[in-house]
Amino acid sequence: MNALANELNSALAGSIADVLLSGLGRRLYFPKGIVAQSAEAKKGATRANATIGIATKAGTPLFLPTIRSLVPGLDPDEIFPYAPTQGVEKLRELWKKEIIRKNPDLGDARFSLPLVVPGLTCGISTLADLFADKGDTLVLPDLHWDNYPLIFETRRETAVATFPFYAGGGFNVEGMRETLSRASRAGKVILLLNFPNNPTGYSPTIDEAAAIVSALRDFASRGNRCLVITDDAYFGLYYEQKIYEQSLFARLCGLHENILAAKVDGSTKEDLTWGFRTGFITLGSKGLTEAHYEALTRKLMGALRSTISNSSMLAQNLILRSLEDPQRLAQKAEAAKLLRERYDRAKSILSRRKSTAIEPMPFNSGYFMSFRLLRGKAEDLRKALLTGSGVGTIAINDGCLRVALSSVDVEKLEELYDLIYSTAEKM
Ligand SMILES: Cc1ncc(COP(=O)(O)O)c(C=O)c1O
Repeated sequence: MNALANELNSALAGSIADVLLSGLGRRLYFPKGIVAQSAEAKKGATRANATIGIATKAGTPLFLPTIRSLVPGLDPDEIFPYAPTQGVEKLRELWKKEIIRKNPDLGDARFSLPLVVPGLTCGISTLADLFADKGDTLVLPDLHWDNYPLIFETRRETAVATFPFYAGGGFNVEGMRETLSRASRAGKVILLLNFPNNPTGYSPTIDEAAAIVSALRDFASRGNRCLVITDDAYFGLYYEQKIYEQSLFARLCGLHENILAAKVDGSTKEDLTWGFRTGFITLGSKGLTEAHYEALTRKLMGALRSTISNSSMLAQNLILRSLEDPQRLAQKAEAAKLLRERYDRAKSILSRRKSTAIEPMPFNSGYFMSFRLLRGKAEDLRKALLTGSGVGTIAINDGCLRVALSSVDVEKLEELYDLIYSTAEKM
């Protein structure tokens, strides 16, 4: 084991992270190499900084004017150099403030400074590197984003155990509880929750959120150690009363010493910057101290340094400037209003339809809604819609067809649902 990894492991000894780390997580460290020495030089090298591999002239980066002229609002230093592995410090601090503003249930719970990653996918994959191993189990609802099995099963060889997403008209808290108990091996398990959900478009009600939290508290107090990842990609898009409008991270990071909460979020959907690749990993657990968060952050930085190295400087500074702009929240509200109009129209259209072939599953938030197939297969319906009517949808599995309301203009919804229902009836 590398000496720096040993140091980090000693700093984490006896903590929840110590139990949850994977073999790779245990081996990871952030080298005192080029990046660390350059960061030191940035502060101390007042005469000449001959460290990092970028080209400079009179202290500023060399650049092509053709590129620079496309981003007139930023300084060259905000566009061209490498960003620090952990992300631009000011962006990390502002994002932490945003998390606090949006999640009052955090109360006085302590949590880490968010670490920048190039998108939520990388955030989840990096957490999997640190915490998921062959022999571990990831618990997921059966309706989930298809990238999770690719990350955990295929890359990390972690087993996946699922439970039915719905019980009656709501989230299946009991199924989650039972599956966690069954999946916990040697007192360790990973749970991943994604609300608003892809593909269902469902978020828990306030009561369901309380029941999820209570189930996890019980589970932890029986000695089970659990990493709970909240994928908050679609945070903020809630269309009904009585939905829990915060991240479950807010309730989990001060809940119990046996729970390590990991929030993965980002500007991708929240700030409509899908291609920017800017996301964050934030960790919180009742028993963790600043020294623990620092050690875990260095392990995460080691994972990033050895894969993507660092995230886009340009994208981070665009997001940073936008976070400082007082008009941002009003502009976000405008976009959310547009999506809400589609939700309202979809609900109204669907309330007038009946079919023996498909039925809409409960939805109340986010980008999507899905149909349950009452007969036939979703893949056959998808193909028939595409070839027969020029309508694109996604077959999630045999029994579930996803419709992205986020990408269909409101005036096209009636026609879209006409085609889906008539095609399904013919099958
Ligand atoms: C649930 C969920 N998480 C994460 C992502 C991906 O986020 P990013 O593009 O930031 O990697 C998506 C995108 O489709 C998603 O649906």
